Amino acid sequence: MMLDLTTTRLTAGDAEAAAHALRGGSLVAFPTETVYGLGADATNADAVARLYAAKGRPSFNPLIAHVADLAAARAVAKLDEVSLRLAEAFWPGPLTLVLPKATNCSVCDLATAGLVSVALRVPAHPVAQSILRAFGGPVVAPSANRSGHVSPTTAAHVAADLDGRIDVIVDGGPVMVGVESTIIGCLGVPVLLRPGGVPREAIERVLGRTLSTPMAIPDAGRAPVAPGMLASHYAPRARVRLEATTVESGEALLAFGPDLPPGAETAVAVRNLSTRGDLAEAAARLFGALRALDEVEARAIAVMPIPTHGLGEAINDRLRRAAAPRP
Ligand code: TXA
Ligand code: MG
Repeated sequence: MMLDLTTTRLTAGDAEAAAHALRGGSLVAFPTETVYGLGADATNADAVARLYAAKGRPSFNPLIAHVADLAAARAVAKLDEVSLRLAEAFWPGPLTLVLPKATNCSVCDLATAGLVSVALRVPAHPVAQSILRAFGGPVVAPSANRSGHVSPTTAAHVAADLDGRIDVIVDGGPVMVGVESTIIGCLGVPVLLRPGGVPREAIERVLGRTLSTPMAIPDAGRAPVAPGMLASHYAPRARVRLEATTVESGEALLAFGPDLPPGAETAVAVRNLSTRGDLAEAAARLFGALRALDEVEARAIAVMPIPTHGLGEAINDRLRRAAAPRP
């Protein structure tokens, strides 16, 4: 395997060099506003195959194609009236749309796992934008972590997982949003496939209707739901205990809000996602805090209850996956 690569470091100003590397089939990690992505030329099946291998990701789990703007999106996928409304409201930004492929869609079949649909997103991060503009075509980019690990929100997180396995890391500092994009399936009635950086409420306001989740749809078993939404994901090594209202001996504490639970004084370590109880701040800190608490080798990570509205839906989704039994 590719354990012996020299991973080149680039900075935010090196978009041209990053695009050049992508053109040559290299794997380039770069910041988006949600999490760091591991980019490859979406039209280059060899590069995409290397990407799956570098992440240790099963190739039946399709990737998100990233483009610079709506015009570029239209070359990849068909947008109808509803998806167009979402694109206009939230792009560039932390929203991914699963759409029918355009007739001459250049994204390779390996990247879409042979599906007739393609997941598409226009990221807002200035570094992602400048790389996509310099490259000029679709770039597939899953989160830049080993498959199943906690997603990376800094270049150091990317290096910890993928140094020596990928060609380039573009360091653009810590990301802003901190949880992955919201994924909306637009192959019929719009469905929420993954809660993420755009809160459900904001999407429902634009659509003027309630979003169903795949579980609520009778045909869910056969529908092309997000195949990557495995129960166990974002997994730290430590056991994760949710809805903790006390801290037990030997545990670390992932806190939220100003009031800590009984036992917090004796916690092995404490990270507060937001002392003022702000969900956007909590989302931005979530994955970094999980990584940090994993390092102290506590008996478990006790997680205080976190509200479920707004970005809280995505935060709770990631925490449930972090707590799920490992395969
Ligand atoms: O914020 C994000 O979305 C980040 C940044 C880097 O853009 N990317 C990301 O990618 O989270 P990844 O690969 O970790 O998650 C992509 C998800 C997976 O759950 C995958 O199964 C789903 O998107 N997906 C991709 N194509 C799909 C399709 N055609 N239909 C349904 N789900 C799809
Ligand atoms: Mg991921």
